[in-house]
Amino acid sequence: MTLVSGDITRAVQFLEQEDVVAIPTETVYGLAGNIFSEKAIKKIFALKQRPFFNPLIVHLSGAEQLPKVVEAVPDRAKLLAEKFWPGPLTLILKKRPEIPDLVTSGKDTVAVRVPNHPVSLELLEKLDFPLAAPSANPFGSISPTESSHVASYFEGKLSMVLEGGPCERGIESTIIGFEDGNPVLYRLGSITVEDISNLIGEIQVKNKKEAAPDAPGMLSRHYAPQTTTYVVDDVAKFIMAFPEKRVGVLLFQNAVEASNIKAQQVLSRQGNLEEAASKLYAALHKLDKQELDMIVAEQFPDQGMGKAINDRLQRATKK
Ligand code: TXA
Ligand code: MG
Repeated sequence: MTLVSGDITRAVQFLEQEDVVAIPTETVYGLAGNIFSEKAIKKIFALKQRPFFNPLIVHLSGAEQLPKVVEAVPDRAKLLAEKFWPGPLTLILKKRPEIPDLVTSGKDTVAVRVPNHPVSLELLEKLDFPLAAPSANPFGSISPTESSHVASYFEGKLSMVLEGGPCERGIESTIIGFEDGNPVLYRLGSITVEDISNLIGEIQVKNKKEAAPDAPGMLSRHYAPQTTTYVVDDVAKFIMAFPEKRVGVLLFQNAVEASNIKAQQVLSRQGNLEEAASKLYAALHKLDKQELDMIVAEQFPDQGMGKAINDRLQRATKK
């Protein structure tokens, strides 16, 4: 049985015994383990069925922990950390030799962030080691934004899900690294490109399949439902071609009516992209459970959080 509970003391016990616990963050739930425990890290990879070449993000209780895991912090990384931590920003920096190769897939860099969730911050403060935590979903499937998503993925295989309610942001952290001293954005996420460039100026965006060697988690088919998914400009028009199919639709603002629509998720009646992002994965989870022939999602406005939403929708389609 997987325990789903808000008992932080219990979570500390499991983690100190080198076990894995799913933890809430403001982005998505993570599968967390002591970065220095080979047993825990191996269990994370096994549970996720994740290839060992795909490195994990290290979660710290605060920026003051940074010198314990990285060699140096470039000025622009400092600015970013000061502004966005705790929060949905991951920095890729040169690692200290003590950080195990298993966590970083043998790279000389480590991905770090300070999550902005009261439950996990309290947990991290009670531990004397940082937590490695990838999103708490099997490799290639939809990320979890509620404890129930995690429990249904890993029922019986995972000791505990630390309850923290639905994730506020709902989309993974934005990942930034440095190449020849210049900042590069590797994954669109909960902090927008606009927010980043307002602080540190123009930034190169490499949020592409081609970035795979640097950020292997960005494999093209990622965050995907089991149901065949399409992303289109005009949902109403597209689904007219499939009158006999059981269709589920995922829309930004306005509902669509058609007799073949068997399930419908509208993400923000107000047209608010942050709200839409926070509901995206839960909506995909719901649609994916309804034995539909297809999920048809609307292309979102390509600005602010809309960019990250479109990125995740693209990755949800079969290629
Ligand atoms: O919002 C998030 O970041 C969530 C929560 C749980 O914190 N975590 C998350 O982890 O999304 P995961 O493992 O699903 O994605 C981590 C990404 C992967 O694309 C991985 O390849 C990349 O970070 N990554 C980790 N370490 C790296 C490194 N040293 N160099 C380049 N990419 C790295
Ligand atoms: Mg993931």
